Amino acid sequence: MREIGVGLLGLGVVGSEVAHVLLHRATRLSEQVGAAVTLRRALVRDVSKERSHPLPPEMLTTNPDDVLAADDIDIVVELLGGEQPALDLIRRAVSNGKHVVTANKEIIAKAGYRLLSLAAQHGVDLRYEASVGSGIPIISPLQQDLAANEISAIRAIVNGTTNYILSKMAHEGLDYATALRQAQDLGYAEPDPTNDTEGIDAAYKLAILASLAFHTPVRPSAIYRQGISALNPKDFTYANELGYAVKLLAIAKRQGEALEARVHPALTPLDSQLANVDGVYNAVQIEGDLVGTLVFFGRGAGGQPTSSTVVADVLTIARNIANGGLIRPRIELNRRIPVMPMLDVETSYYFRLAVADQPGVLAQISRVLGEHRISISTVIQKELDPAAQTAIIVIMTHPASERSVQAAVTEFTHLPLVQEVSALIRVER
Ligand code: NAP
Ligand code: HSE
Repeated sequence: MREIGVGLLGLGVVGSEVAHVLLHRATRLSEQVGAAVTLRRALVRDVSKERSHPLPPEMLTTNPDDVLAADDIDIVVELLGGEQPALDLIRRAVSNGKHVVTANKEIIAKAGYRLLSLAAQHGVDLRYEASVGSGIPIISPLQQDLAANEISAIRAIVNGTTNYILSKMAHEGLDYATALRQAQDLGYAEPDPTNDTEGIDAAYKLAILASLAFHTPVRPSAIYRQGISALNPKDFTYANELGYAVKLLAIAKRQGEALEARVHPALTPLDSQLANVDGVYNAVQIEGDLVGTLVFFGRGAGGQPTSSTVVADVLTIARNIANGGLIRPRIELNRRIPVMPMLDVETSYYFRLAVADQPGVLAQISRVLGEHRISISTVIQKELDPAAQTAIIVIMTHPASERSVQAAVTEFTHLPLVQEVSALIRVER
């Protein structure tokens, strides 16, 4: 039986699980492939570190060339994370004629097209199923099973850490800081949670999904991004009263000759599938002209689910090698669809204002909204402080442009009776 060698770059949360699966399911996996798929060695920073699934010491190395330049390795699996040195190591692996599997969304979002072109030049495959949605197969369905469709929209929850935090805020009334601490204690959120909480991770994933779905390069820097750290538990309560959940959504939509691409907290109807995705789970909703609406749902983080998609990529490549051919998804970024400036995007909005509880205040607010052609759909008023005669006004609008809404917010801040624009959250129906 032919042997296909696998080398790992990284043996952390994901790498350890991948190594465990490759070693402990070797016989079954090899039967599926028709060739022996053999883990050879793994690059780490510290060979003496304790690991959840220890490998024999002779399989560990701190020298990248023991993986990248080894004759007995055909497939290199990059699971270091971050941009560097991972990007250079992938380039070197490809240039040495190795096939590559990676779970690294930052690298695929920023440099995927160039890496795929380099892989094509060298006649090798580069696969990245685990880079979005962890254990959820979504890259391959977009490249293959949905290929006949014109995709019109993607709405997704692609960050498990923030979805866990938002679920805690919604269901237990926790404030953001407390929910974040819990996520950190459970190991979901990093000590520096910025990448997750500010929507950076979700924007990388949206860039990958949108590029594939719309066949156009979508740079992460072109995606409008707002994180979850300013959300207040009050808004979860009011949103719920109005029939909505609050979720960090990654949205890409075709709008004529342009594309909307944005990551931000959004009110989403309680009876929608996305509103009911809780904890570290992820979901990706796709609208295609032939298939209609599809939802891919599953565990969006963690070593085991991620090992499922990483090993699946390894097996696809191994099957191709065993069959003596290379079936590589074509890179079809042959359209040039610009991302719309956020100010041109139209959506409905949720406002929460702290106002003086006096006659005429609602009239002033609706005058400002009317002047900016923003139509109100619902208004509720809550008493804030009876002694100080202040109230909270929550307003839901019909679709309006971001430009008009921002102009109205600026005007509100100049109204003497409006003390504060406390929240402004977009609505995605
Ligand atoms: P991790 O636990 O931090 O593991 C990183 C591994 O890389 C460690 O084994 C570390 O070695 C090694 N490493 C880092 N820098 C190195 C360097 N300069 N030289 C040699 N070795 C180095 O990361 P992870 O959570 O497994 O994530 C790996 C990748 O999977 C990332 O791209 C991540 O975004 C992606 N991903 C993760 C998840 C998840 O739930 N964790 C889900 C989906 C995708 P030591 O062990 O010796 O320190
Ligand atoms: N930090 C990511 C998340 C891990 O919370 O979703 C999976 O990519």
